Parts: sequence; structure tokens; C-alpha cells
Amino acid sequence: MSSQPRRVESQQTDKGYVPIYTTAVVDQPWADYTKTEHETWATLFRRQRDVLKGRACREFIDNQERFGMTPDAIPRFEELNEVLAKATGWQLVGVEGLLPDLTFFDHLANRRFPVTWWIRKPEQIDYIAEPDLFHDLFGHVPLLLEPVFADYMQAYGRGGVKAHGIDPNALVHLTRLYWYTVEFGLIRQDGGLRIYGSGIVSSKGESMYSLESPAPNRIGFDLARIMRTRYRIDTYQKTYFVIDSFEQLIDATRPDFTPLYRELEAQSAIAAGDVREGDVVVHRGTGEGWATDGDV
Ligand code: PHE
Ligand code: CO
Repeated sequence: MSSQPRRVESQQTDKGYVPIYTTAVVDQPWADYTKTEHETWATLFRRQRDVLKGRACREFIDNQERFGMTPDAIPRFEELNEVLAKATGWQLVGVEGLLPDLTFFDHLANRRFPVTWWIRKPEQIDYIAEPDLFHDLFGHVPLLLEPVFADYMQAYGRGGVKAHGIDPNALVHLTRLYWYTVEFGLIRQDGGLRIYGSGIVSSKGESMYSLESPAPNRIGFDLARIMRTRYRIDTYQKTYFVIDSFEQLIDATRPDFTPLYRELEAQSAIAAGDVREGDVVVHRGTGEGWATDGDV
């Protein structure tokens, strides 16, 4: 029997099933992955590589190749860390799952990216509500090799530590930025739109929907606008924000956010699907198939 840490199951609380995790860094129990778990990796890996051709941005595809990840087996964090150390100094650390805000920010601020060590079950191939190894590793890790994006992630971590010390509202605003960039961002490239957000690249359905569906809005990146915008956690996004380059992202987020947080206090939130005066509309969504409520 294994003495490795195993996943802590979700627990019933008055808020429903909530995953309760330890905040500790754990060694990836690589030798314990079952044949089925390696097969789940293989299935997802092959499928997404295929779907992302011509859809993911150049930096995502190229950097993923540099890691030498293959469908043959779940990658070892140790091997990926050798590549990362030389390129941008980032390191992956194994975790049980979602971390408390401050723990997460502290990792990023120190160029450590927490990766969930367990992979979803076969019946969750198409959808899983929480991040697993496939989302974290396939989705987030490639862009940690991209110098400008790697710096943005660290800056976000430092900004998170700061926002945490301001007030809960500052954190709400900052989290929306992460959501609409790191997780669900689109980028203009080669005369079209491409995906860089990890939440999209790790989902077959959303990879196609985010670029090809007429339903969602696609709007030019606007920092303050994004920070006011609610989002969806249980359906595809109603709005995607489009950057022109990773330089634009890091330049726009370089200033101290403290005065911005104060200004945002006086402003109401924007619904996930709203288009507003002043938006640079790349595509105005039809809204087809949207749920009428449920914005976070
Ligand atoms: N400039 C931000 C601040 O002062 C920090 C930050 C950088 C946040 C990049 C997010 C992304 O809080
Ligand atoms: Co993620």
C-alpha cells in the first residue's frame, strides 16, 4: 500500500460540497499513478494538442513543445522543473488543490507555481469543476517559459499579497483580472484571435466556443473594465477580453493599483454578458444559450 498523500475528499458543509485541502507542498507521488490515470492524461493531451492547432497562441504551442511533454505518461514535475529553472527560474510545486488566497499569492510572488498532483477520473474527461493536474500542467505551465508572461505571473502574486492587505474588495477586483487574463484570455495574433487562457486551453468545448461561437462578447482589454466584470464559474464565459500582446498586459498592470481599487469602490459591478459604451467591441455576442443568472 502507498504511504503517499492521497486526495482529501470534498466535505459536506452548509455551503454544499466544498473541497477541504491542506495548504502543504507535497511530492508528486508519480510512482502511484495508475494505468488509468496515465491513460486519462494521454486522452486529454492528444485531444487538446489537436484542438489547439491554429487556436492557441504561438507562445503556448512553442513552449509546450520545449518541455517535451508526451501523451505516453503523466510528466514528472522534477523534469519540467529542470527546463523551467534554466529558462525563467519558475518552479512547480505539488499541491492537493485550490489554496487559500494568500498562500497562492506567496507562491507566485516567489516564482513557484502550485500544480494539483491528482488527475481527474475518466468520467470527468469533458468537465471537472475544480482544477486538476491536466488543467494546471497542460494549461498553465507552458506560458511560464515565456519571459514576459512569467514576469506577469510573479507581478500578479506580489499584487495579490498587497491587495490581501488592503481589503476583501481589492481582492475581488484583482481576482477578476486573473480570471479574464490568465484563465480566459484571448490574444490577437497573425490577423486573428488566439487563446492563451489556461481555463480555455484545457477545455475542448471552450477552446472552440471562445473563438468560433457567435454567442460570447469579445472585447478589447481594459484593466478597470475587467476589474468590474463578474464572471461565470459553471458555464462558458459570456465575455472574453482580447490583448494585443503580453507586453500590453504587463505594461497596463505595472502601475500601483491602490488608487484604482479606491476608485472601483464607488463603481458598480458589470454583469458577465454586458456590453457598455466605451468598450472596444471585437465581436458583439448574440447571447444565444446563456443562462440568465449565476454570475460570480
Ligand atoms: N501593479 C499591481 C499592483 O500594484 C500588481 C499587479 C501586477 C497585479 C500584475 C496584477 C498583475 O497591485
Ligand atoms: Co487555473
